[in-house]
Amino acid sequence: MLGTTADRLPPASLRTLANDDLAFEVLSGDERERQLLRALRGAEAPDLTVSGPHRAADWERGWNENLRAFENEALEPATLMPKYNRHRVLRLQGEYVRVAAAEFEYAAYTAIRHHVFASWFADVDRVVEYGCGTGTSLMLLAQQFPQLQLCGLDWAPSSQAILAKLATRVGRAIEAHRFDMFEPTPLELGPRCGVFTSAAMEQLGDRFEPLLQHWLAQDPAICVHLEPIVEQYAENSLFDEVARRYHERRGYLRGFLPRLRELAAQRRIELVEVRRTGLGSFFHEGYTLVVWRPITRGRA
Ligand SMILES: C[S@@+](CC[C@H](N)C(=O)[O-])C[C@H]1O[C@@H](n2cnc3c(N)ncnc32)[C@H](O)[C@@H]1O
Repeated sequence: MLGTTADRLPPASLRTLANDDLAFEVLSGDERERQLLRALRGAEAPDLTVSGPHRAADWERGWNENLRAFENEALEPATLMPKYNRHRVLRLQGEYVRVAAAEFEYAAYTAIRHHVFASWFADVDRVVEYGCGTGTSLMLLAQQFPQLQLCGLDWAPSSQAILAKLATRVGRAIEAHRFDMFEPTPLELGPRCGVFTSAAMEQLGDRFEPLLQHWLAQDPAICVHLEPIVEQYAENSLFDEVARRYHERRGYLRGFLPRLRELAAQRRIELVEVRRTGLGSFFHEGYTLVVWRPITRGRA
């Protein structure tokens, strides 16, 4: 899934893999067909929410619930886990799998994040996460890198309230700002800064250009994304077609990877890694890895 071998995974990934219940069974025959049909019908449901600027209040409501649970349960980190990561049938490398534990997706996502962070953020001074939500990635970064400066941005004020309490919980400063990725306001990233997004650009549809220009103007050391990348689905696969339809109905990110390829062809950025991990929720695959960096005159 990650283009590496188990012995090269960082200890934090191995601990997550060892401690969580990652048992699953591959669904085949009639069972697989039933899931394909369920996913297809789900993608056609008339009440599916479509992402966009109108959804800010929905996110605020959701994260406010997590904030209250975090406060009421003595800053227990488990209360920060988003409620949507709990499907019992998941997409895993071309198969539908039935997982034994509801936490499977979140655990696999966490093991992936540890590896991605060790690969790309070991040499930066600061990481700024855009659309950080309840801050679980910042919490993992705080555990993995004791010296790293951390900053989380989100348009939902409850996210900033959670990060303030999370900073107390992990005993580390965590900067938090309200920030709208549709209309980025100036924000100094500083030298040797890593940018991270996870299931956040997803929400932008095709309106990612202002954010991309914001990054190009700031010249971060590395930009790392775990996002659903619709262009990575195979053209001639029914399994991928159902995920593509869901992605399109939800108005998720599109055109970002082609735009990065265009910038790479113009030698304005270096596209360092594009990797479909094959992990998904039930409806689509939100964990495709894209890594790039601006080419500055100095570095070029
Ligand atoms: C699916 S959640 C992912 C949260 C977090 N990255 C994670 O992996 O748990 C999407 C996040 O993006 C945020 N978001 C969506 N659109 C945004 C925008 N235009 N500006 C800032 N944040 C946004 C939401 O508030 C939410 O926190």
